[in-house]
Amino acid sequence: MEEYNEGSSEEATLRPEPCLEHKAENYDDLEEELEFDPLLYTSLERYLPDNFINLSRLDKVPYLNQILLDYSPPSQRNHRHKHREYRQKIMSNYQPLHKVLYTMHPTNFFVPSFLKAISENTEQSFRSIMSEPSPGILTFQMLQPRFCDMMLEEVENFEKWIRETKFRIMRPNTMNKYGAVLDDFGLQTMLQEFMEDFIRPISTVLFTEVGGSTLDSHHGFVVEYGTDRDVDLGFHVDDAEVTLNVCLGKQFDGGELFFRGVRCEKHVNTETQPEEIFDYSHVGGNAILHCGRHRHGARATTSGRRTNLLIWCRRVQA
Ligand SMILES: [Fe+2]
Repeated sequence: MEEYNEGSSEEATLRPEPCLEHKAENYDDLEEELEFDPLLYTSLERYLPDNFINLSRLDKVPYLNQILLDYSPPSQRNHRHKHREYRQKIMSNYQPLHKVLYTMHPTNFFVPSFLKAISENTEQSFRSIMSEPSPGILTFQMLQPRFCDMMLEEVENFEKWIRETKFRIMRPNTMNKYGAVLDDFGLQTMLQEFMEDFIRPISTVLFTEVGGSTLDSHHGFVVEYGTDRDVDLGFHVDDAEVTLNVCLGKQFDGGELFFRGVRCEKHVNTETQPEEIFDYSHVGGNAILHCGRHRHGARATTSGRRTNLLIWCRRVQA
């Protein structure tokens, strides 16, 4: 997209109070072309001066870019830019194996009981398919076996591409040496829809205390455990308001998740109460949903290979 450079002496400015009657537009479909998160463009729109507020989105973007660049620290600017380049490099070279995964196909992805509960969209319908074995931890059948198999094959195919091209990828987080960020190789749009249409309806009703209805972005990745992969995972909290964790399979022993109660930042290392202790054994296709600050870890996967799909659901927009 073009840089905003209308008169270099004229600074891009915003109005001090938002224009409340203006309906801000959605920029999600421009994600690949935007310098910043699409939500930032939507949030800033109501602050645009009179001569910009009613222009087309494409005319507003360069002006909004300028504002965002002016206000972001140089380190963040660079990081954003580099990460965008990194994703573009992967996506222009990597050939997907299962194209069907890259757009949302609910009936191919989800089991019928889950789809029925989502379409009814009530607390009762969600509760009817879920167990809550410990307060704030929900488990339910979610993904079709075929979807799990295809996702495993896609990740394997991506890893084969990494080996062949010797491309250095970024791992999903600081704790995992293996695994891959699905958003980095083309699954960003599908997973955003996954979060908005199939996780947020549940969190709106069942995770109100962490703003479940306001989740607006995600970090989607897979983790891989086994004796030749990451073996276990230490005690931690996730960088997310709500975490969805689904086991994709296949054959493995061990790898149980252990939970030890929800804590705020200040009290993250305080003692565990007996009623907070809960251990969970993964079952292929089944999901576990919990708030990100529910302290947990994963025990060693002692044989075979365990791959899990993680969607960290977040709220970026203030
Ligand atoms: Fe975690």
